[in-house]
Amino acid sequence: MEWIRKLFRKPGPSGFGYSSTAEEALRVGLAKRARVLALRGARVIILARTVESGIKVKESLLQDNPNAKLDVMEMDLSPMDSVKAFARSFLNTNYPLNVLINSAGIMACPFQLSKDGIELQFATNHLGHFLLTNLLLGKLKSTAKESGIEGRIVSISSLAHRRTYSSGILFDKINYRTGYSPYAAYGQSKLANILHANELARRWQEEGANVTANSLHPGVIPTNIARYMKFLGIQRARLVEDRMSHSYLRLNSLK
Ligand SMILES: NC(=O)c1ccc[n+]([C@@H]2O[C@H](COP(=O)([O-])OP(=O)(O)OC[C@H]3O[C@@H](n4cnc5c(N)ncnc54)[C@H](OP(=O)(O)O)[C@@H]3O)[C@@H](O)[C@H]2O)c1
Repeated sequence: MEWIRKLFRKPGPSGFGYSSTAEEALRVGLAKRARVLALRGARVIILARTVESGIKVKESLLQDNPNAKLDVMEMDLSPMDSVKAFARSFLNTNYPLNVLINSAGIMACPFQLSKDGIELQFATNHLGHFLLTNLLLGKLKSTAKESGIEGRIVSISSLAHRRTYSSGILFDKINYRTGYSPYAAYGQSKLANILHANELARRWQEEGANVTANSLHPGVIPTNIARYMKFLGIQRARLVEDRMSHSYLRLNSLK
């Protein structure tokens, strides 16, 4: 197994490898991105399952950049009611929306159903983001039209999309308990992220909308998402209290 560890330890083009900690990556990566966005006049909305955890993220970012414009709002991706409630509150603010980053997720958990009775990884990683995107799409398009600034949706997928079930997404067996594979189900949800972004991009190109959709694999880094992983000696990733990966970003005044 040592050769596998060595392979993952090798840094990628970003300078980070599997041996980089989340803290290192966040310091240099996400925090830097947030700082850059704030310096450019961006307002960032941090979405968290609880306001308390969002506030922790906000405070850690304010230490880096006291002038950052940061708001915290509550949303749980897996119950669709929570996504709808957040979208309603957000739209009521009448804030503009330039960028939506669909990043939150869970990986390889044991079989569970969401409150709505849907396999939890598919509900959280795909359906929650799908619904959120649909509910905010009008605002994203109208902001792009009014501001003349291209709107963006960025979906954080994974290379794991290649390791889904052998027949692809099991549309007719999403809640397939007996054949459930935690990793294939994760791959399935990540494949759905990519297909969703591709289809949005195709439609908007056809429409001539000034909005783009992209998906990406962020690289591999130990974070809390690995809490269910039981191979390569990675049991539970090192945690950093100030991680900010559960944020979506809502930006305005991006010049
Ligand atoms: N880390 C990697 O190596 C890697 C590789 C490929 C792709 N990715 C992708 O990168 C994205 C970010 O992952 P990460 O590694 O940064 O993991 P992470 O640190 O565990 O972040 C995931 C975040 O999603 C939030 N979340 C989970 N379930 C949620 C729900 N139902 N509603 C709202 N928020 C929820 C978690 O919030 P709580 O704090 O409340 O749990 C957590 O903050 C994921 O989409 C993942 O699939 C990661």
